[in-house]
Amino acid sequence: MASLATGTEGAAFVYLPKNRGIDLYIEKADAAQLLRWEKELAAEYENIRKRNLNLDLTRGKPSSLQLDLANGLDGILAGDYISADGTDTRNYGGLDGIQELRQLGADLLGVKPAMVLAGGNSSLGLMHQCVHFAYLFGTHEGARPWKEEGKVKFICPVPGYDRHFAICQELGIEMLNVGMRDDGPDMDEVEILIRKDPLIRGLWVVPKYSNPTGIVFSDAVVERMAALGRIASNNFRLFWDNAYAVHDLHDNPPLLANIMDYCDRFGTADSVLQFTSTSKISFAGAGVAFLAASAGNLAKFRKHLGIATIGPDKVNQLRHAKMFPDIYALKQHMKKHAEMLRPKFAAVIRCLEENFADTDLGHWQVPGGGYFVSFDARPGVASEVVRLAAAAGVKLTPAGATFPYGRDPEDKNIRLAPSLPVLDEVEKTMVVFVNCVKLASVRKQLDSLGTGG
Ligand SMILES: Cc1ncc(COP(=O)(O)O)c(C=O)c1O
Repeated sequence: MASLATGTEGAAFVYLPKNRGIDLYIEKADAAQLLRWEKELAAEYENIRKRNLNLDLTRGKPSSLQLDLANGLDGILAGDYISADGTDTRNYGGLDGIQELRQLGADLLGVKPAMVLAGGNSSLGLMHQCVHFAYLFGTHEGARPWKEEGKVKFICPVPGYDRHFAICQELGIEMLNVGMRDDGPDMDEVEILIRKDPLIRGLWVVPKYSNPTGIVFSDAVVERMAALGRIASNNFRLFWDNAYAVHDLHDNPPLLANIMDYCDRFGTADSVLQFTSTSKISFAGAGVAFLAASAGNLAKFRKHLGIATIGPDKVNQLRHAKMFPDIYALKQHMKKHAEMLRPKFAAVIRCLEENFADTDLGHWQVPGGGYFVSFDARPGVASEVVRLAAAAGVKLTPAGATFPYGRDPEDKNIRLAPSLPVLDEVEKTMVVFVNCVKLASVRKQLDSLGTGG
């Protein structure tokens, strides 16, 4: 008899389940077959539940072993707090950050150091400030604040990063979904929206190893993004969140085109704000964040930042400069992260391939870096998968989190974040995930045939 079960029956916990070489197309199954599958999967689910698991695959955090790689930061200054230009980093001041770190940020983002501000520990914080400053005071000198322009809007490629969306939601900025493709956001859609809606003021993107789909924007997409400044309002900003600029899982990673090179050609440098940080390079809570922007944008940002702070934590910046004297040292360091992350991502992908490759139960992209695997289940199933998993002791990112307002219109996207747990836990989690996807899909199909319980 054809079976959907993953093989967790019996005493042993089978970590990497395999389908049993059978036809798993739910659309093709009749009600009797679906009912048999449901019974089998429900029994398997009960077995899993009895194991009292307590696993968590929710957030893209580095593991403690990854964090250990940067423990050398502790004490690295050995009492020498003076930066290259003679600044005593212990004292106030230096809003732009120390020169060594501005150079590092420039190399990460592919711009000149003069365009870079090295800030505190969070690029999300810099993004939050940029949005707030634009909302309250305008994007550039002489610009009207967004709050006085009417109901301003942001374009949000989906699925995307929930914390971007939360910044907009808190300010009441309306968010407009556009689809993500394998090479980046659907640029036809983006351009149409910008042309027809004069109140669009922003666009969130994660151009390399996108959160959560893991895709890297093609050169053509980057070029079209750089050109948006020619059709958008002067008060529009592209929020280019390059959080995973050097977070490659493999050697010879894909190259992201340099957006500022295109901007220089198109005369659109003011339309782009670039961000990155060392959060997933050194310490996630104690790294250094960077903003790269045109002279006008930086001057405006500095003006308002200077009201909030007298300067960033330059001691921490100097510690980072000592640990990463240049971008090559930093990239060597990232290879050690990759070694730790690769087996976990491989386990997730292997499990998805073994269970879903020849089915109509879901699809996913294989990321070459970053922190996530994005799984699209059958429409209408994601929340139930997350609910079932939680009841079996496995926390997944809430369904809908990857969409503005927490609403996935098709209820199908689930973000998997395998970095934090140890490999064994990732594998156990995937067994549960697979069972829950199958069970929820079969039940949904039974419901749609009017035969569900
Ligand atoms: C796309 C993206 N941007 C920003 C952040 C947060 O960065 P930071 O720690 O520099 O605030 C994350 C963290 O998960 C992220 O995935």
